[in-house]
Amino acid sequence: MGPFEQAREEIRSRADIVSVVGRHVPLKRRGSYHVGRCPFHDDRSPSLHVNPQLGIYKCFVCGAGGDVFKFLMEHEHMNFREAMEQLAHETGVQLPERTAPDPAAQALSQAARSALDWAMAWFHERLLETPKVLEYARSRGMSDSDIADFRIGFAPGGDTMLAAAPAAGHGREALVAAGLAVRTDSGHWRDRFRLRLVFPLLDLSKRPIGFAGRNLQSGKPDIPKYLNSPETEFYRKSHFLYGLSHSRQEAAKQGEVVVVEGYMDWMALWRHGLRNVVAASGTAFTKDQAKLLARQAKRVVCFFDGDKAGIQAAERSLPVLLTEGLEVRVANLEGTEAKDPDELLKSKGADALRERISGARHWVDFLLDGFWKNHPRPSPDQRADFLRRIHALLGAIPDAALREQCVQAAAPFLERLGIRESDLRETLKNGVPPPPAAPAGPAWRNQDVHTGQKKDILTGIRRAEAQFVHLVLSHPVLVLDARDHVHPSDLVEPRCRALWDMLCAQSEIDNAPPDPKSFAAGLDSSLAGFVAELFQLFEGKPDEMVGRKELDDFVRDLMARKLKEKRRKLAAAFRIAGESNPSKLDEMNQLLAQEAAIFSTRTDT
Ligand code: CTP
Ligand code: MN
Repeated sequence: MGPFEQAREEIRSRADIVSVVGRHVPLKRRGSYHVGRCPFHDDRSPSLHVNPQLGIYKCFVCGAGGDVFKFLMEHEHMNFREAMEQLAHETGVQLPERTAPDPAAQALSQAARSALDWAMAWFHERLLETPKVLEYARSRGMSDSDIADFRIGFAPGGDTMLAAAPAAGHGREALVAAGLAVRTDSGHWRDRFRLRLVFPLLDLSKRPIGFAGRNLQSGKPDIPKYLNSPETEFYRKSHFLYGLSHSRQEAAKQGEVVVVEGYMDWMALWRHGLRNVVAASGTAFTKDQAKLLARQAKRVVCFFDGDKAGIQAAERSLPVLLTEGLEVRVANLEGTEAKDPDELLKSKGADALRERISGARHWVDFLLDGFWKNHPRPSPDQRADFLRRIHALLGAIPDAALREQCVQAAAPFLERLGIRESDLRETLKNGVPPPPAAPAGPAWRNQDVHTGQKKDILTGIRRAEAQFVHLVLSHPVLVLDARDHVHPSDLVEPRCRALWDMLCAQSEIDNAPPDPKSFAAGLDSSLAGFVAELFQLFEGKPDEMVGRKELDDFVRDLMARKLKEKRRKLAAAFRIAGESNPSKLDEMNQLLAQEAAIFSTRTDT
């Protein structure tokens, strides 16, 4: 660890997440954790859990969660350094000198940020004063309130922005850093957006980070229809989803998000009251976009254009979406004249559109349909290829329950291909190894927070394992004791296994109890959600004495289970070998004796 990382860990372990979050959200103590209304979605019940022991917060509804730094970054829109600085001050930790403080770069970055704010207003004013373009926007169905709400703008021709910027206090370099202007190889400065209808691209706090410009010059096929900002420090295409700034609350509320291709589609749907929608900007999903979606909702409906590109985009999005544990359906425009959702709205109205969305098909169904269309009489090779594809997609689903659901959904369709459900399940079991590090979808999805019912969660052995993980997280020193007796592969609950594996690994680095806060900070969102759930499930921190006893019991049960398993195997072998085999009989007796010894030392009543 360098000095910076050291300071970071020091701050993390000293900072009191309850007081940091509590400054923004009223929190109530509930056993070992605190609850409050989540500030990241429109929360009515207290869905936000703040765990001081682990230094994390987690919302069980919208999925927001992280450590104390993340909270300040997301809630206060600080960057990491700013969050560090504030917390360093509060905790009295000395930050190491910055290696290369570059005031010039920082100033430029600030100037670019403010140029973006200015540009959004400037484009918008240009639209309002240009009747012809306003008319175009209206002819595309935009209402005046759309234009105002989404700050639609107009980029005039030439280098008008560069010309106007100095008077507003914005330099050329700032415009370039903001992606609004370019400097050509020959050293000329040029406006990036010319003669385009401009859509601001907003971050989650609704600040502009870039723009998309639709071409307004008809009859110029060589000009791209849409021109977007280049990648800047603010706008990263692969992390961005258009409209999420406005739709994420509704998406969280419904648990479902609809993905369309175009900005125009997005706005049309919004106007008609469909407010859980984002636009993917005409490309297949990236991993980061899928992660972003998975944080908002658990179900996705891909509603892409009806053309070949749209179908391909949907197909290419599947593995990415499924990997993030999302339930995926695909809506289509078949049987309509419309080429995209926007057109369908115009020709058939909002009800027709809603029908398409609610009638969206399971992704397996969607793929199979495409398969039959392309291969009305498939050859054995084509069938096998297709099966492999479905297989790979099923294997990408991290959550066993969801995977099973998809297998069941796939079964009737695959039967048409002559593939039996049991065969599919068999090859899945053998052919696709379970993903080791990220075993489960976000745990918070498995429970209905409002009724407090935990659906698939944890009974019997799984519950005991969960309790064990809760115990060692509450008393990290016990990790060292448990390590010698409990191997990760002993645990059957995949999330428990992953957590225990990580705890063991971390404690082995310097042979010391893992620091729970930095451990929790390193978890991905699904495991962090599971951990938060554990603390809800097993309220209160047992004192260390009680904890040790719990641990002993757990280890004993585990050993008993392993012995029993061994005995079962031996008994089977015994039956085959017959009673005439004295060595097997000996072994059996030994096992029984060991088992009896374990049970006689049990301390509970
Ligand atoms: N797109 C892009 N660059 C292009 C074409 C398309 O970035 N040259 C992205 C845009 O985000 C666009 C989306 O892909 O919104 C869908 O493309 P398309 O259907 O062609 O555009 P629409 O949004 O439907 O716009 P319009 O209705 O004006 O054609
Ligand atoms: Mn379109």
